[in-house]
Amino acid sequence: MTSRSKEAIASRLAEARRRTLELIAPLDDEQLNRVYSPLLSPLAWDLGHIANFEELWLVQTIGGREPLHGDLGRFYDAIENPRRTRGELPILRDAELRSYLADVRERTLDVLEDVEIGPDVEDRLLRDGFVYEMLIAHEQQHNETMLQLLQMVEGYEVSRGVGHLSPGQASGTILIEGGSYEIGAPANGFAYDNERPRHTVELASFEIDRTPVANAAYIAYMEDTGAEPPMHWERDPEGWVLTTAGRRVPVDPSHPVLHVSWHEADSFARWAGKRLPTEHEWEAARDELAGVGQVWEWTSSDFLAYPGFEPFPYREYSAVFFGATYKVLRGGSWATARNVMRPSFRNWDLPERRQIFAGIRCARDVSAERASEIAGDDERERAKREGCV
Ligand SMILES: [Fe+2]
Repeated sequence: MTSRSKEAIASRLAEARRRTLELIAPLDDEQLNRVYSPLLSPLAWDLGHIANFEELWLVQTIGGREPLHGDLGRFYDAIENPRRTRGELPILRDAELRSYLADVRERTLDVLEDVEIGPDVEDRLLRDGFVYEMLIAHEQQHNETMLQLLQMVEGYEVSRGVGHLSPGQASGTILIEGGSYEIGAPANGFAYDNERPRHTVELASFEIDRTPVANAAYIAYMEDTGAEPPMHWERDPEGWVLTTAGRRVPVDPSHPVLHVSWHEADSFARWAGKRLPTEHEWEAARDELAGVGQVWEWTSSDFLAYPGFEPFPYREYSAVFFGATYKVLRGGSWATARNVMRPSFRNWDLPERRQIFAGIRCARDVSAERASEIAGDDERERAKREGCV
């Protein structure tokens, strides 16, 4: 790989870091260390974890160097340290934390100068710069988790660089015809192990909503069923208000509903006479959908390995999570970096989680009559092509 590509990697690493630092710029050390919710890490943990993950992969693994702080890394292991415990850990804080971020980055750039990156490199971590792409995506994905917490910080203003919610425009449903669909990431280019291998699935015809469910529809559902409001909503005499960042802003009925659990998404869909799409259906319909990138969309699918799955570069990224415990979310939210939103990207989370930026898009089976109508259309199309009519 040419030095120009290395420069490109360095500048993308810098860009991701700029965004991270911009998110925390308005905060003081006390706010970085504070535990706002047992459901979320203090920001100081996220920051140290971002730097430690970088040190582990880009300095220790790739560069063969020793860590700066001995076995400090064990406190930044996400699996070993559940979120509710992270505020109590002897992690780096304040000035020490800031210099750790900078010192690791300096070493990363040192190592980058010496490595060989390219399409033909034998080391899969370095081939096409995989490990650098992984690190950039990791930091960007943590930015989203940080935003989940930042909206609990009194008076916090989301900066201009970050996306925002907008009202759904189109409505109605889209018909996706049954057939064979290619699912998953192609063999080349960056993707996580769980998106591979690309494979064919057979889908029956189905209908899917053009846009995610709006707050107005969710309020109708709450009024009809007595269901709980989404996280961060409270009732004022005038109506529902959003209470993020210590403000009280009327809920916009046209915005997509956000901060609902899988269970809530699933019962909303049933109430509406519909169902959640499977993740395969979502991916097959992906190009037709409006409002992607506003809210993560819960699917009915468990987080399972694709046939022929191979863990890479480490089992703890996906393989240990496969099973019926986690549900897959697709798309991406206003807080997700565009770089992360591949059509094949699979997010997964516990079905009771509400703090993530998740909403709902509904699907439904196509009725037998409609299916035979479609089949009839196909029949006529074929006949037309073959010159029978
Ligand atoms: Fe992480």
